[in-house]
Amino acid sequence: MPPRKTPSTEVLLDVLRALPPGQKLWVRGVGGGLFPLLRAGDSVRVLRCGPDETARGDVVLVRQGRMLTAQVVVATQPWSTAPLLGAEQREDGELLGRAVALRRGRWLLPLPRPLGPALWVTQWTLASAWAQPRTRLVYRGVRDFFFSNWSRPLRRHLVGPLEIRLLRAGDLDALVTFASERLVVSASFLRRQLRERWGLEPTERRGAAAGALDSKGRLHGFAWVDSYRQEGLPLDGVWVRSLVVAPQARRMGVATQLLECLLEESHRQGEPSVQADVDEDNAASLKTFEGLGFRLATEALTRRTNEAWDAAGRSKRLVVLERASAR
Ligand SMILES: CC(C)(COP(=O)(O)OP(=O)(O)OC[C@H]1O[C@@H](n2cnc3c(N)ncnc32)[C@H](O)[C@@H]1OP(=O)(O)O)[C@@H](O)C(=O)NCCC(=O)NCCS
Repeated sequence: MPPRKTPSTEVLLDVLRALPPGQKLWVRGVGGGLFPLLRAGDSVRVLRCGPDETARGDVVLVRQGRMLTAQVVVATQPWSTAPLLGAEQREDGELLGRAVALRRGRWLLPLPRPLGPALWVTQWTLASAWAQPRTRLVYRGVRDFFFSNWSRPLRRHLVGPLEIRLLRAGDLDALVTFASERLVVSASFLRRQLRERWGLEPTERRGAAAGALDSKGRLHGFAWVDSYRQEGLPLDGVWVRSLVVAPQARRMGVATQLLECLLEESHRQGEPSVQADVDEDNAASLKTFEGLGFRLATEALTRRTNEAWDAAGRSKRLVVLERASAR
């Protein structure tokens, strides 16, 4: 389920290239290279500059192939960058600018130049540690425990009861807050969809969004189903998009219930089937869809979907799944 930003990557690239030196721009959804400092929905403020104006330890936005990604400058002779946790240094990135601030939801973190050496040492230490198989083993052990069935009672207690239902116009604030932390979809897109399609009365509703809400109305999980054509992709039918469950609420059946809710609504709207496209290495997501009876789509549809996303600037292979909307 590729993030919706992808079709506009080329546009963003043109805007950044046209930006005069010294000008700044907020860019969202490029934080993968700075994990765990940045998450999917976080933003970086980019100052347009050339490689000779960067130093070791600067966070920069680069184009690598068709991807825009934030990286740390690890050497200037030759100029090369690496992800915060990665040992693989690359010299082939096109520099688009230096990050001068990071933003997550309401939190703003300035990145002043004197922080550079500290960040470079951090990158070096993390990358060296990450290169050790034992570190990765410990990390996976901790992560697996956190998301496992063992920790589920504790997490269930902390999260409290969740209501899974279709989202309405009044859920906009909760949705925008959740999206700003966990999705790369823009708030304006969600606002428009909720107002003009998903949040309407049943007779007028087109597509739908489902959420998992706690007793205070906060979202812990979200997904929507809608046509790809309205986003400009030449693919028929309705597709599940942006399925995300917050880490504390995972392995509690939330994604399964969100999908059941969307399948039921799609059936009510007369859609015979529902499609999904999932990164081929996303085992958790593939298992979730398979558990609900989604099966591999035809080779022709899989090829068309991958071609459509390739043309939109994405290169990772997608597995395409489908299921009848009726039980
Ligand atoms: C994928 C994701 C949405 C699953 O959400 P979830 O609420 O934890 O899923 P469910 O609890 O409904 O899990 C359903 C089944 O899927 C499988 N599954 C889910 N997460 C798994 C994991 N991390 N490891 C192994 N199996 C997993 C299990 O079989 C699970 O059933 P079980 O817990 O009874 O064994 C969630 O992990 C997530 O948000 N991931 C990050 C975003 C993402 O990748 N989204 C999908 C984009 S296509």
